[in-house]
Amino acid sequence: MRLPPVTQKFAFVFGLIAGLVALLVSSFFLVFPRFDLPETLVLRGGAAELARGQYLFDAVATCSHCHTQASYFSRFGSWTDGELLRAITAGVDRQGQALHYEMPYRDYAHFFRDDAEAVVLAVKEISMRSSGTQDPVVGGSESYSLWSRLVSRVLPRPAKLEHRARQGDPDFVLARLSENSSVNRGNYLATVARCFQCHKLDEVKTYAAWTEVAFVARFRQPLTSPTGENNKIKKSLPLAKSMPWPGYQKMTDADLKSIYHATLERAKSL
Ligand code: HEC
Ligand code: HEC
Repeated sequence: MRLPPVTQKFAFVFGLIAGLVALLVSSFFLVFPRFDLPETLVLRGGAAELARGQYLFDAVATCSHCHTQASYFSRFGSWTDGELLRAITAGVDRQGQALHYEMPYRDYAHFFRDDAEAVVLAVKEISMRSSGTQDPVVGGSESYSLWSRLVSRVLPRPAKLEHRARQGDPDFVLARLSENSSVNRGNYLATVARCFQCHKLDEVKTYAAWTEVAFVARFRQPLTSPTGENNKIKKSLPLAKSMPWPGYQKMTDADLKSIYHATLERAKSL
């Protein structure tokens, strides 16, 4: 049976469009997520690296803000150090599947290599301590919208972790940028602690108007709830938007002060 010419033409155009769409969709899934093979690493840190890693894990990266159960980390006992480093800084899991963008790997990609490795050591240590039950990640993948999962696929990039300028620098001061190390250190901490992801320029100006003492004191205020805000905003925010007070409270005065000075500097440049 021959189709009338109009129908033939329609079938042709339709087939062409369907083919193009199929091509686009399949190349999207082929190209994204982008990632490198995990590094072959066997990290062997001493007590100092582990302590540093635990501090960064708790107080700066505030990992437990979202991964609220220590037992969440038990699953990483079987991961290699390279796989963990890649997940934390480049946003793909063991199989190379994209992590949802709520995981702040794009901020953690700014860690100096030794700090990122120290965090991996801390995760390994926690995974050894916590055995047994596996808790689903907060906001487990089922609850993500299709759209946000597609976006999450596009975002991962291989991380280029910088080496610290002067290895072994006792106070981890950024010697490379020595003229104003407190500001630079503060910028580094604020970046990996992702302060400016949530606090936009106008708010930064507000905090910069505080004194250093008041700024640090704000972080020492008792929490009104063990997990949460302490607490100006009454309505509760989703984890990804709420201030991780319990973690940041563990930051040293020196680190909070350097963040304060970085904030001042940022406000000046506005
Ligand atoms: C703002 C919330 C948030 C913070 C903070 C956070 N994560 Fe995540 N993390 C997530 C989410 C959400 C996922 C799951 C993404 C998914 O299911 O695709 C995840 C996934 C992971 C994974 C991959 C898990 C797997 O099974 O594939 C690892 C490893 C991980 N996080 C470690 C960390 C570490 C270490 C830190 C701190 C340095 C941290 N996370 C901080 C939200 C967070
Ligand atoms: C995930 C989002 C998020 C991140 C990350 C975050 N904040 Fe906040 N922050 C908030 C929210 C929301 C509030 C207001 C609610 C509250 O007080 O808990 C707040 C409140 C504050 C306040 C108190 C303001 C006041 O008027 O009392 C200060 C100071 C502050 N943040 C500084 C920081 C610094 C410094 C960092 C990084 C170390 C940071 N924030 C990271 C969301 C965030």
